[in-house]
Amino acid sequence: VSLKPYNTFGLPAVAHTLVRVASDADVRQVVDHPQLGLAPKFILGGGSNIVLTRDMPQVVVKVEVMGRRLVEERPDGWLVEAGAGENWHEFVTWTLANGYPGLENMALIPGTVGAAPVQNIGAYGLELQDRFHSLDAVDLITGRSVTLNASVCKFGYRDSEFKHSLAGRTLITRVRFLLPRPWKPVLGYLELERKVAETGITNPSARQIADWIIAVRRAKLPDPAQIGNAGSFFKNPVVTPEQCRDIIGRDPEIVHYPMPDGSVKLAAGWMIDACGWKGKTVGQAGVYEKQALVLVNRGGAIGSEVMTLARAIQESVYGRFGIRLEPEPVVV
Ligand code: EPU
Repeated sequence: VSLKPYNTFGLPAVAHTLVRVASDADVRQVVDHPQLGLAPKFILGGGSNIVLTRDMPQVVVKVEVMGRRLVEERPDGWLVEAGAGENWHEFVTWTLANGYPGLENMALIPGTVGAAPVQNIGAYGLELQDRFHSLDAVDLITGRSVTLNASVCKFGYRDSEFKHSLAGRTLITRVRFLLPRPWKPVLGYLELERKVAETGITNPSARQIADWIIAVRRAKLPDPAQIGNAGSFFKNPVVTPEQCRDIIGRDPEIVHYPMPDGSVKLAAGWMIDACGWKGKTVGQAGVYEKQALVLVNRGGAIGSEVMTLARAIQESVYGRFGIRLEPEPVVV
């Protein structure tokens, strides 16, 4: 099975076996299957956060569990649930249309609901973990259905236990979110402050905020349907205040954000841009013209070309700033 249509980077790779699961029972059938049961698994959602560099010997399990519902209207919030196979943005749109605000800052993030907890998606001042309630999953070894809360998921910046000990072991089937009441807008991000100033709308609705986010994202992130990509290719590195002072000493312009725990997050996109990479192309892989943190497929790229470009970027950023950039998507 060609995986090209199943990854937003549009990279070629072949899976020996691909199975689709639409329910917990489907997952159990895979677990109980004489051949598939014990084989290593790779769990595939929207394919928007993977870089395929080779064919896949694992059994690729494509998650297609659907459904969206209000579980409970509580005094402290709306508890909503979606199947792991639902498209994330369509789910956000559904919550807003039904009067359950709270996910608007994460509008238009590519991928599925089930993939969202894996990398703890986030954008414009909000992370999945800020709205997460719990999730249902099936253990791929025992076939048992389990419900996991945030402490088991161990969310971090673009990270969770599903990228570590639970990778290939636990298949997420449904995710629940608690959207706090009363709703409060999250407007701290520079680009949103700018929209408030530009429009004079000081008390935007959740729908208004979603529309602003959609406009901001469309202006600087490539649409995977048109240009293959997997969003930010590197994580924003977190450094100690001492390291940061050092770098600022040499590069006073560097974009950085103090974190609640005293560490400092550096804008990787700014550093890559400062090294002159924006708009560059190596082979069929390139650095997006409007956002240096995003690598793109210029057409017909293969995974190794993307990784060659990524390594060249890592080397020049290390040479200039002494910082090692880490890939953000899962490199297969
Ligand atoms: N910058 C440059 N040149 C560039 C790119 C960025 O100078 O080519 C500067 C910007 O001017 C800005 C700063 O770097 O001052 C940060 O840029 P931006 O606000 O675009 O955000 P980011 O740090 O590059 C992160 C997330 C995005 C998320 C945005 C908005 C990561 C790895 N990326 O990007 O998430 O949409 O913030 O919240 O944390 C993703 O994870 O795939 C993703 C797209």
